[in-house]
Amino acid sequence: MTHIRKAVFPVAGLGTRFLPATKSIPKEMLPLIDRPLIQYAVDEARAAGIEEFIFITSPGKATLEGYFDSNGALEDKLATAGKDGLLADLRISNMPEGQHSFVRQAQPLGLGHAVRLAARLVGNEPFAVLLPDDVIRAEIPCLKQMVAAHADIGGNMVATMDVPRAATSSYGVLDIEHRFGRTVRARGMVEKLAPDDAPSTQAVVGRYILQPSVMTRLQGQGAGAGGEIQLTDAIAADLATTPLNGYHFEGQRFDCGSVAGYIEATLAFALARPDLAASISAALTAPRQAMGWQ
Ligand code: G1P
Repeated sequence: MTHIRKAVFPVAGLGTRFLPATKSIPKEMLPLIDRPLIQYAVDEARAAGIEEFIFITSPGKATLEGYFDSNGALEDKLATAGKDGLLADLRISNMPEGQHSFVRQAQPLGLGHAVRLAARLVGNEPFAVLLPDDVIRAEIPCLKQMVAAHADIGGNMVATMDVPRAATSSYGVLDIEHRFGRTVRARGMVEKLAPDDAPSTQAVVGRYILQPSVMTRLQGQGAGAGGEIQLTDAIAADLATTPLNGYHFEGQRFDCGSVAGYIEATLAFALARPDLAASISAALTAPRQAMGWQ
């Protein structure tokens, strides 16, 4: 069994759906309750045993890069004041030296292009990819579920969920050969086809465990759907030598790349927090007039 040690986090996107907020804040730094979106992906990766974190950033992402530095002065202040809870919260954002790196994507040429920029750092071993826009609330973190399944079946693996057929055009979609339990064996994978052309309604969510052969296929790969270099195309091409499995994870996925999804995630996470649940639930169920909402 191969230990999946490295994860790639593509965080170069412009976040135009959140303008003007994202004019000076990277979208991955928008807070879901009280921690930035990127923290959820990093926590999930850590829980799955990831030890090396590779962020693909772009111009304008300095705040995100700085986020992982420790702030000694603030830590000392909180320690002296005996604010241990806050100190613990602060420290989850620290990345131990040598555990993380940043690779710059100078031009937005696509997800496949972003991932292939990590080729040298990933080297010749299987690796994970996490898209931080996809936030997944689950009892067992999604990537951890996948690592366990991958230990049994190997190959390339993508997280999947069932979506309405009309929504398939927003996703990578699997061409299903057969299903066994939570796993779906795929004979193909396509990127953002029209709903009528989608081979199934099993959509790919932003969690991948990939063999280094996918990196090799990405080298020199041309543009695909939307004129971008697509990760989907490299995974599909790799089917020539590597099996592809979809993993129907247990949990709820939120598309935090969209404003509605981000608000839904905020509510779901708030309602799961003992310190917030009562007041948020009261606000949601009270007559709108009582809240001054109309
Ligand atoms: C990317 C992938 C797509 C996948 C999706 C999941 O698309 O290209 O295959 O289904 O993430 O969120 P994006 O949403 O970045 O356009």
